[in-house]
Amino acid sequence: MNITAIYPGTFDPITNGHIDLVARAARLFSRVIVAVAANPAKTPAFSLDERVQLARSALGEIKNVEVCGFDVLLADFAEKRGVRVILRGLRAVSDFEHEFQLAGMNRRLAPEIETLFLTPAEQYTYISSSLVREIAKYGGDVSEFVPAVVQAALLAKRRYT
Ligand code: COA
Repeated sequence: MNITAIYPGTFDPITNGHIDLVARAARLFSRVIVAVAANPAKTPAFSLDERVQLARSALGEIKNVEVCGFDVLLADFAEKRGVRVILRGLRAVSDFEHEFQLAGMNRRLAPEIETLFLTPAEQYTYISSSLVREIAKYGGDVSEFVPAVVQAALLAKRRYT
């Protein structure tokens, strides 16, 4: 079946955990749209454009993946693109409450859209973008957690901020 899924997030920056999830999704769906939310409320360290570019570089090898930014309601963005599947990752039980709330609200806003959950590989369950940013900020080694292009961007950010 020809089904497209949207994988939304702030991706500040994209990590190996996100990439693992996209790779799994790309095997299940004919197309995966990685939708990078502007999310000004999170005051992201990387601009929307930087986050989109980093995700594009990191995911370049997966053919059926598209990366784009958005600054509207996720439900509206999905409807506009004609997509009926929202994908989210569940790393631990602690993610569940927030994800349950998001999925419920998105269903209320767009009842025809289903939220599906995937779990990343075990070694990625403790990665988060904010932890990666913090480790990089103090000069720690993040090579295990992010692709080289993101590692370089974090290093550059550390130098110039
Ligand atoms: N591997 C590694 N880390 C992962 C991960 C994975 N597979 N999946 C999630 N994470 C981490 C992220 O890095 C992030 O870490 P951080 O908070 O430490 O930076 C955290 O889990 C969750 O962030 P994210 O995936 O960006 O979700 P979010 O809760 O910040 O944002 C959106 C969710 C973008 C989908 C939501 O804000 C949204 O839809 N925004 C658009 C506006 C909208 O429609 N709002 C109403 C929603 S009902």
